Amino acid sequence: MNFLGTHILSIDQFDTQDVEALFAVADQMQPYAQRKLKTRVLEGAILGSLFFEPSTRTRISFGCAFNLLGGQVRETTEIKASALAKGESLYDTARVISGYSDIIAMRHPMAGSVEEFSKASRVPVINAGDGAAEHPSQALLDLYTIKKELNISGEIDGLNIALVGDLKNGRTVHSLCKLLKLYKNISFTLISPIELKMPEEIIEELRKAGHQINETEDMQTGLHDKHTIYLTRIQEERFSSQQEANIYRGRFRLNQSTYTTHCQPNTVIMHPLPRDSRAEANELDNDLNQHPNLAIFRQADNGVLIRMALFALTLGVEKELHNTSSDVNWYTDRRF
Ligand code: CP
Repeated sequence: MNFLGTHILSIDQFDTQDVEALFAVADQMQPYAQRKLKTRVLEGAILGSLFFEPSTRTRISFGCAFNLLGGQVRETTEIKASALAKGESLYDTARVISGYSDIIAMRHPMAGSVEEFSKASRVPVINAGDGAAEHPSQALLDLYTIKKELNISGEIDGLNIALVGDLKNGRTVHSLCKLLKLYKNISFTLISPIELKMPEEIIEELRKAGHQINETEDMQTGLHDKHTIYLTRIQEERFSSQQEANIYRGRFRLNQSTYTTHCQPNTVIMHPLPRDSRAEANELDNDLNQHPNLAIFRQADNGVLIRMALFALTLGVEKELHNTSSDVNWYTDRRF
């Protein structure tokens, strides 16, 4: 793909070369994300940040990524705080906001909404999550994290991964499956309540690409021999009622005891976050917080690198980063 000026809407747009090109640029972002250097390569540029659905890390990390490249961010959050609440169309919103911005990151509760918006936008649009459909930048940061955690420099062929939780409504696992599909001989163990299983069309795509699929409701046996376990929250916002979501909450939980009993000692633990830490859910227990294989916060940190790389490639400044770089002049040590 030619990233320049391109909307990033779905993992379906990517091939393995695109992924490697993106990851190479993400690696170059490390000194900026770690506040060892600063760059002004996007000085004067504006990100339009439109989050019509709740977000902590995607919204803030897109904003930080743009700021770290020297650009500025203008944002709106929630449908009710925008003119969409007054009946404005996505078309009109896109025409207007793309007049104010150089690039837009957008999240919206309806599947397909970001693509619809992008058709009216005069600047590139990055899908920051559209309903239960896709979350492409999350999948890219997830794969980047898997490679870093497992210390794999080349292809991740032969990966043995378990995806756990609400696989029907979780857009992160949909995009991650589409991304892993690009590689060879991936073994997917899909652990979910039968009612929340991975959509059949995604499973079919994986099978057609030659990958091995094991669907199960038995978490304990499903965790055996995995390089990586990727847990997800019950996506309560996609259910018709809290009561319906409650049926599934807490069904699959990973804690220190389960991990020690059923996982290999080096299995990497991932979660796109937020994890649901309420007692009735608690799919990833706090008693693993100090575990060295718990990658969730490194995973979230990697979101900044990936989003900086997406901005740099889409706006065509990936080769100019270091032209404007200089030392930072504030205290930058991070405790852990
Ligand atoms: N992983 C993720 O999308 O988190 P937020 O909902 O906080 O953005």
